Amino acid sequence: MITALDHIAIAVPDLEKAIQRFVTDFGLPLGGTEDVLEAKTTAAFLPLPPTSIELVHPLNDEGPVKTYLEKKGGGLHHLCFRSDDIDADVARLREKGYQFLADAPTPGAHGARVIFIHPKSCDGVLIEISQPAEGH
Ligand code: CO
Repeated sequence: MITALDHIAIAVPDLEKAIQRFVTDFGLPLGGTEDVLEAKTTAAFLPLPPTSIELVHPLNDEGPVKTYLEKKGGGLHHLCFRSDDIDADVARLREKGYQFLADAPTPGAHGARVIFIHPKSCDGVLIEISQPAEGH
């Protein structure tokens, strides 16, 4: 079941500059940054309860966020829904015809299991589903 809007992600060409904007100008706390190898991104999380802002930047200058930045220069990248049972949610949505970018959930930030729904299944919006690791 989908239980919360876990985060909203923005793709940024300059991670440090974007972090400074959110921390210094908007006054959000920096929750931390993390390299997400599976996604080929560096992610910075800024908690804004009950959700957070995720700034995503290509890791090692490669991956899908690099392609996105080359096309768009930056922008709203995805929404993430939190799930309490990602396997059940994926199965239910597949049954309804939703297409996913992977066959099964992969490791995301903070040890969560994540999967992305293809934007063409959601009117052009990229939606991530994430089941937090136990204790998160
Ligand atoms: Co995300």
